[in-house]
Amino acid sequence: MANIVIVGAQWGDEGKGKIIDVLAKDADYVVRFQGGNNAGHTVVVKDKKFVLHLIPSGILQNKKCIIGNGVVVSPKALIDEIKRLQKEGIKINSNNLLISDRAHIILPYHQILDSLREKKKGKTKIGTTRRGIGPSYTDKAARCGIRVADLMDKEVFRKKLQENLKEKNDIFRNTYNFKGFKFEQVYKEYLRYAEFIKPFVKDCILELNRAMNRGKNILFEGAQGTLLDVDFGTYPYVTSSNASVGGVFTGSGIGPTKIDKVIGVVKAYTTRVGEGPLPTQFSPNIMKKVRKKGEEFGATTGRPRRCGWFDAVVARYAVLVNNIDEIIITKLDVLDELEEIKIATGYRYKGKIYRSLPANTEILNRCRPIYEKHKGWMKDTSSAKSFNDLPKEAKNYLRRISKLLGVDIGMVSVGSKRSQIFINKKG
Ligand code: GDP
Ligand code: IMO
Ligand code: MG
Repeated sequence: MANIVIVGAQWGDEGKGKIIDVLAKDADYVVRFQGGNNAGHTVVVKDKKFVLHLIPSGILQNKKCIIGNGVVVSPKALIDEIKRLQKEGIKINSNNLLISDRAHIILPYHQILDSLREKKKGKTKIGTTRRGIGPSYTDKAARCGIRVADLMDKEVFRKKLQENLKEKNDIFRNTYNFKGFKFEQVYKEYLRYAEFIKPFVKDCILELNRAMNRGKNILFEGAQGTLLDVDFGTYPYVTSSNASVGGVFTGSGIGPTKIDKVIGVVKAYTTRVGEGPLPTQFSPNIMKKVRKKGEEFGATTGRPRRCGWFDAVVARYAVLVNNIDEIIITKLDVLDELEEIKIATGYRYKGKIYRSLPANTEILNRCRPIYEKHKGWMKDTSSAKSFNDLPKEAKNYLRRISKLLGVDIGMVSVGSKRSQIFINKKG
């Protein structure tokens, strides 16, 4: 299999969880390298739905799972997730789950600050998941973050927490009129978490590099998507980490030449949850239909996702930024009942045509997409087992996407179940 990176090529929720689950069968390790419990990766096993937030989806295939240094870890969310999965019969122990000692942790003040900031912003809010992701990465960059290794040392943790609370409580009181946090309460709570997660904490950089040198197959599980990347996404409507391929190296401690392949997961249409531009957003009627059939509600927050036509400008940009070798198309079946299907190939704004993604969010907000129209197939694709099983119009739609993006389609997913996916032998 080799070492493969899976990245989202749109605004997240492309179906990465399902793809990781399918590919993990041949992997030895599955690694999360960025993001935190803002992610919600759904895997359907038989008729049971699992949603993974922090733990790599490979856990369901009983693979070794690593939470890398680039992830921000909420110890509470992690412990809840471990317990929930264990209750559901999934084996989790210190052999198959490893947490990097260099990962930063999310503290209660991060979460509260995330919410207060959003509230204060009002109309210009980001629409975050309010999990404290942004504030935790802010502290990491400001060099006042607290890492897992610090949490493992009572005295170091005490000092760092005291120092942080002094500053944060001032901000809470003066800027947000919020009472702040009591040291003893947070300290005690986190020492309990520390006790629980201690057996899982490892030097994951060594572990991963050793595994690679022994020829093990590693799967890197991206969270969010390229258009939510803090550098490459639709800033400021992004998350606070590098969700594109670069995050693998800074977030797991391996070198770029160790990667054999980058796969982009692409939904057959476009969705976005949270605020920010979505140039190809559907009209309300089609939105209703697709949202219902595609069950487009956030796996983490339950918020309805905005849906739109496939945006080739966006996906082509993701291919470029990540040097994607191959794409996997998901949710083709969701388009089964549409008479006409559109693809955006460019944007028009103030008389100018854009074929590549403009940096200016205002342009993305106000542009008019240039669409090409395709005839819908109006047939059920959810039981297709190969490219040849697909209706002619669906084949044409996929061929067109592949051509517009300049990459091959490796697999096509036509339903949420493990069996509803096939390898595309070049159509
Ligand atoms: P992720 O965050 O990229 O892992 O994606 P999510 O799990 O948030 O959202 C994808 C949703 O689509 C989940 O509910 C999956 O079960 C579902 N899904 C994945 N692939 C397919 C597919 O090919 N067809 C349909 N209908 N649903 C799919
Ligand atoms: P997966 O891994 C879709 C969005 C939020 C918001 C923005 C910033 O399931 O694809 P944050 O809480 O990260 O500061 O929010 O990013 N967002 C996601 N959207 N899928 C995700 O993850 C997301 N994680 C964050 O809705 O717009
Ligand atoms: Mg998701």
